[in-house]
Amino acid sequence: MNYEEACQKLKKADQLHVLKYYEELTADQRTELLAQIEATDFSALEHCHKSGNERGRFEPLGALELSEIDARREYYTEIGVKAIQEGKVGAVLLAGGMGTRLGSDGPKGVYDIGLTRPVYIFERLIENMMDVVRQTGTWFHLFVMTSDKNDQVTRAFLNEKAYFGYPEEYVHFFLQKMAPASDYDGHVYLEEKYRISTSPNGNGGWFTSMQEAGLIDYAHEQGIEWMNIFAVDNVLQRIADPVFVGATLDAGVSVGAKVVRKNAPREGVGVVCLEDGRPSIVEYYELTDEMVNARNEKGDPAYNFGVILNYLFNIHSLETLFQGKMPCHVVEKKIPHIDENGQYVKPESPNGYKYEELVLDMIHQLDTCLPFEVVREREFAPIKNKTGVDSVESARALCLKNGIVL
Ligand code: UTP
Repeated sequence: MNYEEACQKLKKADQLHVLKYYEELTADQRTELLAQIEATDFSALEHCHKSGNERGRFEPLGALELSEIDARREYYTEIGVKAIQEGKVGAVLLAGGMGTRLGSDGPKGVYDIGLTRPVYIFERLIENMMDVVRQTGTWFHLFVMTSDKNDQVTRAFLNEKAYFGYPEEYVHFFLQKMAPASDYDGHVYLEEKYRISTSPNGNGGWFTSMQEAGLIDYAHEQGIEWMNIFAVDNVLQRIADPVFVGATLDAGVSVGAKVVRKNAPREGVGVVCLEDGRPSIVEYYELTDEMVNARNEKGDPAYNFGVILNYLFNIHSLETLFQGKMPCHVVEKKIPHIDENGQYVKPESPNGYKYEELVLDMIHQLDTCLPFEVVREREFAPIKNKTGVDSVESARALCLKNGIVL
């Protein structure tokens, strides 16, 4: 793309300020900026601001509850173990996020939560995978999603740590896409005079990014039929959990979703439900009083199970039902940028928007989902903040409660 073409594209998108420093740039910097302008989809940003995400008619969707799981635990486990031994299950670690709330410099996975020994978040997750490897006698493939912002550090760290004992040939990396970040008026920020501010485009792009990286083809070659998607920050996360795998396969659904019973009617978690007859996730702030008070046939709250970002997706269902196009979520964040005077600023409080697609929106594009209840204290210790709720402190306490030496 040449300068004139860039001008035209930016003018149309009301982003001409991106060329403000063009005259000062070196030839290489100009080339880099023009290439970035060509590659950036500004229309998505504008559309995101206008559209809002309209919702359909919600109805409850019952979960497979703990008592039912316990009654059939052996049966489900047997199915799950067999599927893993047959190589049908892979795992996808979502590690492309910026972890801004935690506020550490590196990727979240390299954060050390140890007390008496180093225990890196990645290590904790791999320790959990090893439980399943021991149980099934089988290595399963791990696909790690990173972003431009943390790819090199993540790879170098895991390589230096020899993947914490996991065989390198079972670990595959792929990059997610980036999206521009803007001020509150939708004008993109510059992070350098020759570079538009970008941030990872949310965890919802994992499947498309894996397809583009050729890894879904690779999965087919390996005979993988199911992908267990999980977040980097839940340090009690069970990965390729045989009982969950077995129950999902047995139910014949397109996706299984691990859920926990809510601890308060308006707890800030997304709740699995039906929306216009298809599985979906309703956000806590979208719950009406009527939904909060609704009861199921057992007399329990009808919207009672929150997702914990651990899903088992059937690849074939994604290939046939998933349309790729996802709603866009506008998230308020702190965005470092170059100010009007050309000075680099790292803001202390939010100053604009990032634009994200989320895994939870993929559920609604599928036809069937099994919400699968797990014990919160055993499987859910997310690290979002340094202290307080969902923090390093709370996650450490839960690890210790589960007998994990930190
Ligand atoms: P969060 O929504 O908690 O985002 O991610 P985050 O970027 O880690 O943290 P904050 O909001 O900036 O503090 C949930 C999971 O999705 C992954 C994260 O790495 C985490 O495992 N994620 C998030 C991605 O892989 N890519 C993204 O673009 C965003």
